[in-house]
Amino acid sequence: MTDVSVPILPPMPDVLRRAADALRRGDLVGLPTETVYGLAARASDAHAVARVYDAKERPRFNPLIAHVTDRAMAETQAMFSDEARCLADKFWPGPLTLVLPVAATCTVCSLARAGLDTLAVRVPGHPAALDLIAHMGEPLVAPSANRSGRISPTSAAAVADEVGPHVELILDGGRCRVGLESTVVACTGGPPTVLRQGGVTLEALAEALAGARWRAPVLGQVRDAGEDQVPTSPGQSLRHYAPDAALRLDARQAEPGEALLGFGPMTATLNLSAGADLAEAAANLFGMLRALDRDYTRIAVAPIPPQGLGAAINDRLRRAAAGSGGARASASDAG
Ligand code: TXA
Ligand code: MG
Repeated sequence: MTDVSVPILPPMPDVLRRAADALRRGDLVGLPTETVYGLAARASDAHAVARVYDAKERPRFNPLIAHVTDRAMAETQAMFSDEARCLADKFWPGPLTLVLPVAATCTVCSLARAGLDTLAVRVPGHPAALDLIAHMGEPLVAPSANRSGRISPTSAAAVADEVGPHVELILDGGRCRVGLESTVVACTGGPPTVLRQGGVTLEALAEALAGARWRAPVLGQVRDAGEDQVPTSPGQSLRHYAPDAALRLDARQAEPGEALLGFGPMTATLNLSAGADLAEAAANLFGMLRALDRDYTRIAVAPIPPQGLGAAINDRLRRAAAGSGGARASASDAG
């Protein structure tokens, strides 16, 4: 249910100032990005970061992404290899997160990094996020603004639903253009390793690296959520992005009592993209799952082609299906 008491405001200059004041006081702000909405705090403020973990009910061994204005700010926080620079210059601002060795000058608190000696950094591709970070002059952590293990919010109203009581205000940046979280790539020695699929496709990564004659990226091993080891990147946790409804994948049609989430020309309760456009489907995915989850207890999902953004969409759907219908583990390690 939407928390109507939390202000949802357009990112005008006076609102950005108010958001910056709140962050400086150690409060949290709902932040639009091009991927999904984030729950923002000052990355250097361990108390504020602790509030982020609490609001998300997120385990503290799951590190956060530091959001910066540009590569120059990122280089004050983390150490870039040539491959990392190549990827940053190609995809920033945009849906790419780089996991890099932490720099000596890093100001991101250790709690945000979950004590690791690496840091995840990203330059978000949304003007409101860039304006707010520029105003602050320092990195903001912004995990997806959902409670841990649930669907990421792609609208300001969904942020209010998820974490409304915990934020001072929500900047309304409209619906998220990409709709899937950023692709997480580790450049920490060895070939670049994809830890989470997302808004930048594997094909685009491979092409960027091949163009510069760097090593091809490898897909990080997806660990099972049942493993008691800390996952390499907790976004890989199998129980993640879960609606309350039970999900049935690769469905050609709905069974009685099921909603059908379609793709391509077909009769469906909601259609991710009637024109079979994967970018449109990605942008609609979380919002439509959220909408169907409100009205149905069972959701059938049409097959999605595996190439391009389809890989990340299918990844999220598999995790949602694994964690849906009350099958979610209580000690979820999702983010
Ligand atoms: O698109 C996005 O990335 C969104 C928007 C708001 O920027 N943020 C987001 O944050 O999805 P979050 O916290 O929900 O997911 C961050 C992912 C997690 O899977 C986390 O485990 C991984 O990045 N991560 C963060 N720091 C890491 C590190 N040092 N090593 C490996 N994985 C890391
Ligand atoms: Mg998340």
